[in-house]
Amino acid sequence: MQIYDLIQKTRRTQPLTTEEIHYLVKGFTSGEIPDYCMSAWLMAVCCQGLTDEETLQLTLAMRDSGECLDLFGIGNITVDKHSTGGIGDKTTLLIAPIVASCGGYVPKMSGRGLGFTGGTIDKLESIPDFSVELSREKFIQQVKTIGCAVISQSGNLTPADKKIYALRNLTATVDSIPLICSSIMSKKLALGADCILLDVKCGNGAFMKTPELAENLARAMVTVGKLAGKQCRAIITNMNAPLGSAVGNALEIKEVLAILQNRKTNALSELVLTLSAHMLELSGKGNLQECRNKAEKALLSGKALEKFGEMIAAQGGNAAVTEHSELLPESAVKIPLRAKYSGYLSGIHSEKIGLACLALGAGKTAVRNEIDYGAGVEFFRQIGEYVQEGEILCEIHGNSEMLCEQAEHSLQEAIQFSENPVKEEPMIFGII
Ligand code: URA
Repeated sequence: MQIYDLIQKTRRTQPLTTEEIHYLVKGFTSGEIPDYCMSAWLMAVCCQGLTDEETLQLTLAMRDSGECLDLFGIGNITVDKHSTGGIGDKTTLLIAPIVASCGGYVPKMSGRGLGFTGGTIDKLESIPDFSVELSREKFIQQVKTIGCAVISQSGNLTPADKKIYALRNLTATVDSIPLICSSIMSKKLALGADCILLDVKCGNGAFMKTPELAENLARAMVTVGKLAGKQCRAIITNMNAPLGSAVGNALEIKEVLAILQNRKTNALSELVLTLSAHMLELSGKGNLQECRNKAEKALLSGKALEKFGEMIAAQGGNAAVTEHSELLPESAVKIPLRAKYSGYLSGIHSEKIGLACLALGAGKTAVRNEIDYGAGVEFFRQIGEYVQEGEILCEIHGNSEMLCEQAEHSLQEAIQFSENPVKEEPMIFGII
């Protein structure tokens, strides 16, 4: 088999055979196929796409490039959730305890911040002493006894994805549906949960900017999940504005706690109840309405908050944060951002907010390898509300006046006003 011929075939939209795809992934992971050949093939995929069968085989070859977890020891139907990346996305931190307190089993491996998007693992690490690394045995045992565990994607899971992803990042081949699909689904299949709920983000703060693209990605992932024998569903959700009111690691944990303590309800809490209901339904806990009722009860009764505390304690963290959010890290400087105009708040551009938070220190960059866990932005007003010029819209948290003032400038650019009332956008664009 010649790699040259495989590149040529994909370039000419001639489907590769199963053997050819497995040869390509194996060869690249082992180092036999050089970066320049793989880059050329990835670019051919970006330009010409792959068939469903090729996408499935690529996903399976990537899954089989490393370790696959055996979740049999949990002894129950397990359910995983994946969000395709967004701003202020703290859904996993709410869903895992809600679903677990309704009798679901959630083994969750999450990622760190990527580009302008935040990562669940960075958020959890803002909780004092919380460990995101557990041995396989401890991970399985914790899910079995408590119902949920959230750890980082460590170990030898899908090494092919790690290598291919790094190359895609350098060769402008990230935004290809078959490549995103195989990257995400290979990790989901290697983790091995029985049911998978995919939260496909759509909008200016997501990789998929339009509903059509999000739908194509959702369909591709659900097709692969089902062909691989999983209960799989995708929900396309709105990422045209940050999710909830906080962006930044510890600030997001504070928002999670406010929701779990029933001190706050917003579009995020509503979305989380919907996603939890779908996860419970997929794992056979009743019909969608029954599962929704269960999820609401778990939230309102405080059971989900208790479960979050159990999970924090089991992973070595200080569970007192569930009652005392002042134990979470805080940045040294906080400055208010005031409305430049009077009018209806008509847009908060999530990608720009994500980039401003990154610059404040909420994520790692090429030049800064440390995270300021307290950094970020907390919004006090929501899209659709009328605000007066000079009113405080949000608070900027950072470790110096200079950083906060720089962020103030870019945040002003992310906020739009309208003279007329604005129509509320739906949180859910579709279900596949
Ligand atoms: N997240 C992933 O894990 N892979 C992609 O390709 C894009 C987002």
